[in-house]
Amino acid sequence: MSLPANEHIAAMENEDLEIGLLLEAVYRKYGYDFRNYAGAHTKRRIAQRKSLAGLDSYTEMIHKIIYDEKFFFALLLDLSINVTEMFRDPWFYKEVRQLIVPHLQTYPFIKVWHAGCSAGQEVYSMAILLEEEEMKERAQIYATDFNELILAQAKRGIYPIDVIRQYTANYIQSGGRESFSDYYTADDKHVILDGRLRKRILFSSHNLATDGVFGEMNIILCRNVLIYFNKELQERVLELFCDSLCPGGFLCLGSKESLKFSKLADRFESVAGREKIYRKKRLQE
Ligand SMILES: C[S@@+](CC[C@H](N)C(=O)[O-])C[C@H]1O[C@@H](n2cnc3c(N)ncnc32)[C@H](O)[C@@H]1O
Repeated sequence: MSLPANEHIAAMENEDLEIGLLLEAVYRKYGYDFRNYAGAHTKRRIAQRKSLAGLDSYTEMIHKIIYDEKFFFALLLDLSINVTEMFRDPWFYKEVRQLIVPHLQTYPFIKVWHAGCSAGQEVYSMAILLEEEEMKERAQIYATDFNELILAQAKRGIYPIDVIRQYTANYIQSGGRESFSDYYTADDKHVILDGRLRKRILFSSHNLATDGVFGEMNIILCRNVLIYFNKELQERVLELFCDSLCPGGFLCLGSKESLKFSKLADRFESVAGREKIYRKKRLQE
């Protein structure tokens, strides 16, 4: 039998309160701030972990989070969705080649920041693109994520063999100029990206919810990350990006993300609508 409407609302409010306390405990104990992540997604992930662990209540879960570090790290993985691929949305990379590269080529040296880089596929895609456009040697690429485990994978640049068909198709569609197989070797289980791709990349830990500015970037790519944040955290992060970009610098968001309703919207012009590429206005513009 379902609860009467008012009791149902009260139960939901209590559940929200418990989840709020749980996220507070995570923040106070481990310093990871999920308090401003989008509600529904965060709730779903926490509920799944609670049921997997056979816990009866969120209050029990708070206790386990505080006293069982391993349990917390499992939850951390649940909350940082790491889905990614090389040349994800190939049409986006096509626009980067056609619209952004000609501007970047006017600089003697460029700085690129991938924020929320996951296991590195997006970063290596960019490294390949810059190499093909003969810009890699004058680029410094910063690749950051708050999840240390995923960053360790990113540094290795080794991926399961079964993804290679998709990555190759994406590369071709994105306007890749070479044969994609030039960039990796393979054994029966893995593709191992060529170590030379790593040469201009610096991987480091950075939490968009709590850490500060990265100075004077020419391009920031933060794709499919803001979608997991609530409005308040999205604004914080967009402000961080605006402050980290040089005038005329580019900001690239994911296909479901936008500057449309942000306070920062008038600091940028849209360069490619579907691809969510924006350019920071110079002061006089
Ligand atoms: C869905 S993946 C997107 C990866 C890649 N940018 C792409 O579009 O394919 C989201 C990434 O954001 C990272 N992330 C989530 N919250 C973060 C935060 N507060 N600071 C830094 N990275 C975060 C996750 O760990 C995950 O690797």
